[in-house]
Amino acid sequence: MKEIDPWDVKEVKDYDQLMKSLGVDSFSQYTKKLKNAPIEIRRGLVLGHKDFSKIQESISKKKKFAILTGLMPSGAFHFGHMSVINQVIYYQKLGAEIYLLSADLEAQLVRNIDEQKARKIALEEYLLNYLALGLKKKNLHFYFQLNGPRKFKEYQNLSKLASAKTTFNEVKAIYGDITPQKLISALTQTADILYPQLEGIKTTLTPVGFDQLPHGNFSRDLASRMKFSLPCFTFHKLIPGLQGPTTKMSSSKPESYISFDDSEKEVENKIRKYAFSGGGATLAEHKKHGGNPEIDVSFLWLKYLFEDNDKKLNEIYNNYKSGSLLTGELKEILIEKVNSFLKEHRKKREKAKKELNSIIS
Ligand code: TRP
Repeated sequence: MKEIDPWDVKEVKDYDQLMKSLGVDSFSQYTKKLKNAPIEIRRGLVLGHKDFSKIQESISKKKKFAILTGLMPSGAFHFGHMSVINQVIYYQKLGAEIYLLSADLEAQLVRNIDEQKARKIALEEYLLNYLALGLKKKNLHFYFQLNGPRKFKEYQNLSKLASAKTTFNEVKAIYGDITPQKLISALTQTADILYPQLEGIKTTLTPVGFDQLPHGNFSRDLASRMKFSLPCFTFHKLIPGLQGPTTKMSSSKPESYISFDDSEKEVENKIRKYAFSGGGATLAEHKKHGGNPEIDVSFLWLKYLFEDNDKKLNEIYNNYKSGSLLTGELKEILIEKVNSFLKEHRKKREKAKKELNSIIS
């Protein structure tokens, strides 16, 4: 399991191999089955799962289920963060009860971010953007780890009592050598993941990035020893950072991402200057041999974030591959998409400001 360190994400080169070695099932059978699914699911960004059949059954039989996922309040909200929330909104529309938490305890323990700062980031960067993206207040239970959810006492006790159900050897096998504060964070995350069950909802899904896989395994092991139902998971690939198909967007590296607060000019500059190109080395070569869309960050962003229309995406793919569409032109398509998205989004965010207060009070 040490292939993945949830506190220091390294880029995964071979997802198939990783899934095989860590016992994650392929999500592909559900990619087409789920109706009106968001782009992340339709285009295969969501790649793996544990026990998703239980969720599929709840959806088709209209049985109650909950989504629980968390956000790390450690910096600007950027496009790398959008994949999770689009899935959450999709399941909310399907009737799921939504549990969302701000991992402010973890941020303090592991990233040295104090409570006040984490609170500001969670509300102004994350929650506000979530609402603007379409998350609804109805059926939404939002909490901070430091304040806890409604049943705070049971939640806190659960995170501590879970410690009796594991050993240092197991912790080491799952996480490698970790510090006491990381162990506390991991136990708290297990309490988060099992929390909807304390409110009586036995079927839960936690959609997360692949970096969170160790927590998935840990929480399922602990759940089975504490008479909880096994929580279900989906795992999505991380959207690449601007520097290349296997780089990550990092909150501490503004040139690696586009944030929801970047201006039109910044969007233009970042994409023109940094977006890694899969195009030919020279114009002549590109025209002759074409480009490689699979490693081109502008193309990958269109595929996983911005170009909803399959026909248009295919056209872009084919034209780029054949060389008739140039790198500069591809970048302009992306710039246009990002800026028109952000323009609309900013209007929605103004409206969402009013809603924000009523959620936390
Ligand atoms: N560890 C997660 C992160 O780094 C945050 C988190 C805390 C979380 N508790 C959770 C995610 C429960 C999913 C479910 O982003």
